[in-house]
Amino acid sequence: MKKIIILGATGSIGTSACDIVRTHPDDFKVVALAVRSNRAGVEKLAAEFGAKAYCGEDSAARAVAENDADIVLVSTVGLSGLAPTLKAIEKGMDVALATKEVMVAAGELVTNLAREHGVKIIPVDSEHSAIFQCLQENCAINAHWNRCVRRLILTASGGPFLDGPNDLSGVTPAQALNHPRWKMGPKVTVDSSTMMNKGFEILEARWLFDVPADRIDVVVHPESVVHSLVEFEDGATLAQLSPPDMRVPIQYAFTWPERRPAVRAKLDLPALGALTFRAPDENRFPALKLVKEAAQAGGTRTAVLSAADEIAVDRFLKGEIKYTDIVPLVRAAVERAPEIACDSIARVLEADSWARSFAASH
Ligand SMILES: NC(=O)c1ccc[n+]([C@@H]2O[C@H](COP(=O)([O-])OP(=O)(O)OC[C@H]3O[C@@H](n4cnc5c(N)ncnc54)[C@H](OP(=O)(O)O)[C@@H]3O)[C@@H](O)[C@H]2O)c1
Repeated sequence: MKKIIILGATGSIGTSACDIVRTHPDDFKVVALAVRSNRAGVEKLAAEFGAKAYCGEDSAARAVAENDADIVLVSTVGLSGLAPTLKAIEKGMDVALATKEVMVAAGELVTNLAREHGVKIIPVDSEHSAIFQCLQENCAINAHWNRCVRRLILTASGGPFLDGPNDLSGVTPAQALNHPRWKMGPKVTVDSSTMMNKGFEILEARWLFDVPADRIDVVVHPESVVHSLVEFEDGATLAQLSPPDMRVPIQYAFTWPERRPAVRAKLDLPALGALTFRAPDENRFPALKLVKEAAQAGGTRTAVLSAADEIAVDRFLKGEIKYTDIVPLVRAAVERAPEIACDSIARVLEADSWARSFAASH
């Protein structure tokens, strides 16, 4: 039986993770759960699972520090996932990582530390889980996968504004939160609509799979059935397909390297009929270009990108800025950020804090 700590237990990913534990009570035991403010929610779950409940801004780090487990599911929002991820690695616990901002802001630090401690970072994001699954037969986890990989291809649903309206300046929070395929928390849903989320996933893949960002491409696939692909050196391309249900990659992260049965919707390919693919429109979705530039600049630019985006999305949801202000505000932060090397947690936090105050005041 694997012992699990769930950080962000009341969120969209955390709730799916709890479902998986309920359906496999002989395989998993939840030992601790952490949330930021939903005390009643976490206490109810803790009573159900016989686990410890943690609530508050530093609850995730405390839950990891005070408990031992085989896997820590990191599914909080933003940089709040960084300290508990580093703590889990230092304690030798494998990490099932949903919080992509951890890799966006501090991928180099996190992956170096994981290698040092022999800890596995198992992807939960559906695209990265797809790549992970495609790589299984070909390469060993946390090794230098890029030797046999020519290109990673991340699929993107394209979000609610793929085909219209032409003018996005009047988009409201309700429209941006109405994702056509996935039910997710508000921050990641808005990021999906601007394609900033896909940009973050390029950076996440860069560190998880040790493949340079210029060998990671994005293709728009509105049906969200092919979750991502790997093109190998010999010309073969593998893809992973499943219905859009986050419980598939979360469960795989928990059971890897094995699989367990699950009662879920199956793919009905004849009913689907056709799967379509197209290139992303980088003029309509300028976030993709911005992310590539930040990746190229290196250092803590990607930490700035992530933090500024968190504030910009929050300001948009509060009605303080327009939808079309989000990416330009993040770009301004990235371009005006001081040069700070990404060589310690303190530097990442310094860049993060600079970006937050910049994005809050411009
Ligand atoms: N949802 C998806 O399908 C999906 C897919 C791929 C990747 N992701 C990534 O997974 C992460 C979680 O997404 P989500 O959609 O599940 O978010 P969500 O629904 O907004 O839930 C966030 C959870 O994290 C908790 N939390 C926030 N800050 C915390 C802190 N400082 N300490 C402890 N707990 C904290 C929240 O607790 P309270 O409720 O008490 O605030 C809540 O339980 C994000 O990074 C997202 O990009 C999500």
